[in-house]
Amino acid sequence: MAVLIMNSLMEQIQQLKKEKNAIIMAHYYVPDEVQAIADYIGDSFYLSKIATKVKEDTIVFCGVSFMGESAKILNPSKTVLLPDITADCPMAHMADIDTIQRIKSEYKDVAVVCYINSTAELKSYSDVCVTSSNAIAIVKALPNKNIFFIPDQNLAHYVATQVPEKHFIFNDGYCPIHKDITVSDVTTAKRLHPDAEFLVHPECPPDVLAYADMIGSTSEIIDYASKSTKNEFIIGTEAGVLYELKQKNPNKTFYTVTNHQCCTDMKKVTLEKIRDVLLSYNGNVEVSDELRHTAHLPLNRMLELAK
Ligand code: 13P
Ligand code: SF4
Repeated sequence: MAVLIMNSLMEQIQQLKKEKNAIIMAHYYVPDEVQAIADYIGDSFYLSKIATKVKEDTIVFCGVSFMGESAKILNPSKTVLLPDITADCPMAHMADIDTIQRIKSEYKDVAVVCYINSTAELKSYSDVCVTSSNAIAIVKALPNKNIFFIPDQNLAHYVATQVPEKHFIFNDGYCPIHKDITVSDVTTAKRLHPDAEFLVHPECPPDVLAYADMIGSTSEIIDYASKSTKNEFIIGTEAGVLYELKQKNPNKTFYTVTNHQCCTDMKKVTLEKIRDVLLSYNGNVEVSDELRHTAHLPLNRMLELAK
């Protein structure tokens, strides 16, 4: 995008934010110029905590729909706007209520642990939500021995290795972007960059995680690289995190594993759409009162257990 157009859009957005008493929250996977104008940027856990504290009337949530939905559930008196209401996480739908109910009837003491990357409806049938940065601590803190972890099988497998005292029942959901990073991609990248550390997100498959120097959420990857004395890193998550990595570490070098670590839904969020949604308010996240009450319980339990 031409620099002049981008600057003008950024100015219009700043002006509209003041007029409408709005703030912008963004996930690390949205385009660079959107990250650049955000008031708050972070991983899913950080953004959930911020959502509970917002004082302004309106939150423009630059991310996918489950993120906007969670913000609305956590702070229902606010208007939550999604710049593109079609931006959705495919994994958020990869579990079903019938299976949850069957597992609940099969295992007496089961806890349904729901990755925050899920619809409000799935959350409403769950006992607690988790994110990639707090899943291990929360599963450890639960009194239940049996854990049905939805929807992500890869995060579930990783957490299971870290909490061997629990019995896990796995679901078959996955993130298509992280699933597409293969061992062959990793070994090729390591051969090309032998001095680089491999930092990877737990949504990647277990055989890829086996090569990791560090496994963590997007924020944890950024923190680790920023504190490290090493200079080169191969990044095993969506390529949007490279924007913040480079902002914080201009003298370090970051490589992606492949050239296709791109979440097309996150990339639907643009400066034009942020300006337009602040003008039209056509992108208002609606959650029924009943669903908000039931889905709030596991989200709130996550916030309490993660303290
Ligand atoms: P985190 O930023 O919490 O690590 O989540 C990654 C992700 O896939 C969000 O969609
Ligand atoms: Fe969903 Fe994967 Fe995109 Fe995250 S990167 S929003 S998990 S599809």
